[in-house]
Amino acid sequence: MIYEDLKDKKVLVTGSSSGIGAAIAIEFAKQRCFVGVHYFKTKQGGEKTLAEVKKHSDANLLQADIRDQKQVTEMVNAFAKAAAGIDILVNNAGDLIDRQPFETATLEYHEDIFATNVRSIFLVTRAALPYLKKNKGCIVNIGSVAGHHGGGHGSGIYAAAKAAVATETIAMAKEFATYGIRVNSVLPGLIETRFHERYSTPERKQKVAQQTPLGRNGTARDVAKAVLFLASNDAASFITGEYIAVNGGLYMRA
Ligand SMILES: NC(=O)c1ccc[n+]([C@@H]2O[C@H](COP(=O)([O-])OP(=O)(O)OC[C@H]3O[C@@H](n4cnc5c(N)ncnc54)[C@H](OP(=O)(O)O)[C@@H]3O)[C@@H](O)[C@H]2O)c1
Repeated sequence: MIYEDLKDKKVLVTGSSSGIGAAIAIEFAKQRCFVGVHYFKTKQGGEKTLAEVKKHSDANLLQADIRDQKQVTEMVNAFAKAAAGIDILVNNAGDLIDRQPFETATLEYHEDIFATNVRSIFLVTRAALPYLKKNKGCIVNIGSVAGHHGGGHGSGIYAAAKAAVATETIAMAKEFATYGIRVNSVLPGLIETRFHERYSTPERKQKVAQQTPLGRNGTARDVAKAVLFLASNDAASFITGEYIAVNGGLYMRA
């Protein structure tokens, strides 16, 4: 589906060297957007996404540790300079890092989870805000269904960080509405990416797929399609502070 209003928008997608972020970058490219492809450690992944994106539209490659204010500010400004502004920010980069239960988790792990998943959104959004204000842009944050249900074994601290992303989304939506900026989030369930190759066994993934009403785990593209909808001013002009859960019905809320 083509959203006519997305054409020529300047879209920065954090964490687009892999998985969900890569799919989001490619879907925006298919809408003919200028896409900022960002990576941290996986340069090869960033280059792979960039090559895919360039089959459809223009793009540039950016590197930064999203926990670091200086690196984030430089990255955001570099994108805005190359693209001549920012219309859409997708705060996708994030990580479970490890599975550590509350009882035994180290302080370093707790700090890193919140720096990677929560501080990162604060830093990137703050750096991008002057550009988004200018263009009456919009923001889509990638949270997690774990933020609703507390996560599985050893992912409780990550789940708490993703719950913070949900609240940040609402708070930013209120604060930025005055600038005409909409802020929403997408909450993936189990999506088949590198994330679960690292942190879940094939048996666990299979079990979750069997428990899911739609009978499968999600794809990165499933998530990307929901992001496009929320980013389109035509499709979602009166939607802010909301979320779309993309989880095949595994976790439903009234
Ligand atoms: N997969 C799922 O089932 C699932 C479910 C719910 C929510 N999510 C969320 O969806 C988002 C994307 O996950 P994914 O499944 O696509 O995972 P992924 O394939 O592992 O990709 C994670 C991305 O985040 C980047 N990243 C991680 N730490 C970073 C840091 N400190 N600085 C900058 N970039 C960093 C990675 O960059 P490099 O590789 O270049 O270092 C990579 O591009 C995350 O926020 C995750 O929490 C995923």
